[in-house]
Amino acid sequence: MCGIIGYCGNNGKASSIIFEGLKKMEYRGYDSSGVAMLSGDGLVVKKGVGTLEEVNKKYKLDKMPGYMGIGHTRWATHGGVTQINTHPHCDCKNQIAVIHNGIVDNYQELRDDLIKKGHHLISETDTEVIPHKLEDEMKMGRSLEEAVMHVAPRLHGSYAFLAISTKEPNKIVGTRKGSPLVVGLGDHKAFAASDSLALSGLIDQLYLLGDGETAVLTPDKTTFYDHTGREIHKKFIKPDVMWGESEKGGYDYFMLKEIMEQPKTLIEATNQDEENFTSIALDILRADHVIVTACGSSRYAALVGRYLISSVGKKFAEVVMASEFQYFADSVDKNTLVLAVSQSGETLDVIEGVQLAHKAGAKIVSIINRPQSLLGELSHHVIYLNCGPEIGVCATKSFLNQVAVFYLLAFSMVHCFDMAVDNIRKVGKQVSKVIDWNREEINRICERYYKKNDFYFIARGINFAIASEGALKLKEISYIHAEGMPAGELKHGTLSLIEEGTPVLAICPGDYTYRETLSNAMEAKSRGAKIIAVSDENNEIYDHWIRLPKVHELLYPIVAVVPLQLLAYYMAIKRGHNPDMPRNLAKSVTVK
Ligand code: AGP
Ligand code: GLU
Repeated sequence: MCGIIGYCGNNGKASSIIFEGLKKMEYRGYDSSGVAMLSGDGLVVKKGVGTLEEVNKKYKLDKMPGYMGIGHTRWATHGGVTQINTHPHCDCKNQIAVIHNGIVDNYQELRDDLIKKGHHLISETDTEVIPHKLEDEMKMGRSLEEAVMHVAPRLHGSYAFLAISTKEPNKIVGTRKGSPLVVGLGDHKAFAASDSLALSGLIDQLYLLGDGETAVLTPDKTTFYDHTGREIHKKFIKPDVMWGESEKGGYDYFMLKEIMEQPKTLIEATNQDEENFTSIALDILRADHVIVTACGSSRYAALVGRYLISSVGKKFAEVVMASEFQYFADSVDKNTLVLAVSQSGETLDVIEGVQLAHKAGAKIVSIINRPQSLLGELSHHVIYLNCGPEIGVCATKSFLNQVAVFYLLAFSMVHCFDMAVDNIRKVGKQVSKVIDWNREEINRICERYYKKNDFYFIARGINFAIASEGALKLKEISYIHAEGMPAGELKHGTLSLIEEGTPVLAICPGDYTYRETLSNAMEAKSRGAKIIAVSDENNEIYDHWIRLPKVHELLYPIVAVVPLQLLAYYMAIKRGHNPDMPRNLAKSVTVK
């Protein structure tokens, strides 16, 4: 949520560099955006509501004069989506500008105090207290970095923020706690950003800022401080160039591109270090308790994973929603293994749960897509998904690779890693078939049902999580209410909502769940439902048939989820929505 970027260098095109960085981070938040630049004229701030492109058209963010500055793309948490609430925020004299990602939990208290002292605050945001607090500190004679290091510990909650000031016009100061912030250095240029993706191709050295650390950036020298204000020397990482490619590749939207590349990215999921898998598999077998924690789609992949770990590895694993994990943290100890699943590696709910488990002595294994993430730093072992940048807000290829990684892990528990790699590689071809066979039929289904307000997705066993994932995708981008549930649960309440013409999507592959799922679909049909079946076998009760290839029963989740992604995508298009940027959402959720 929120993309922040700061740039200082000897290049005259500072604002266009900042704007390009914001473009790469727009997936993090896109309700409004703004830039603050330092130039000969002092501090200039331009900001507005709408997509980055819209704001740029109006305010020419990329053509602002100045040699250094900061830029922000917002996902509002405190205060409506208005121009006044858009970042950057300034102090009373418009000498300090701040951009922020996170939530200042105690902002009301700080705000009341500042108002009592005579400060003039104009927005509804939590963020605005920061420049005013810095103003007070600098009034007392502190430098910008001293001010930042004094103010940061007084902010409760999570933050990553950057500050600039006309009083010290040669530097950007940044700090973080909870929310991500990286620093990148190139030839006479320095950057700070929420995401290393924004800096790809621009830097030679990448630094991950730790919790409580502060960085002072100038074009030629960057200095780091720990939470006590002591200067520290940090090790840099070589930036990952693979993560530079984030073009749509001829597709209208990133989401479609990311769906279509799945047969290829699935193969990448198998490029793993067998020893790493064997050692994690042993840890899973040895642990007294295995807890899998994740949010949203990653949690649905974890539910498939739990099934695989149980049916192949014969070990019970509990899946706990990351936002609820803190309430179970008491039962975690050194004999617990926590598997944290997160595409971004920066979801705050996941990170906070993992921090608690870490403190309790648990072993942490994470399954992540983004390299150089906060979650990776906290883990004893990391497995990467290898699916490259996923820009569309919907998880698509990352979900498929998460399921594939769980499949490899489960088979590593019974010493069959190589066989599992072969199976995943083969199923990649079946994913291509599913796409080819069903695109037209899915478009027909969208044409028929796009005005419906409710959809139900049912399945059993390992595919139940796929029903939930399909429903989440549909809700997320087409704004149609959808519920995914175990097929057997329908009759315990939800069946009362079925009426003439209600679409019910049943995932019923020809496996051990076929007969019973079919009966549940029939129960819905008898009450007027239209049955959209996702199956390798046709049946007269189906109103529409999305055809699957025959695969082994543990591989159906991989082939069955793809048509559901396409259904959500085409439904969003049909209803006139941008699937890459659904309203109210952002790709990385770095607030609680
Ligand atoms: C999926 O389509 C969603 N955008 C969302 O549920 C996502 O999976 C969730 O926020 C978790 O993100 P993560 O995998 O980066 O932790
Ligand atoms: N809390 C700040 C706001 O609402 C920043 C939000 C965020 O990080 O997404 O403006």
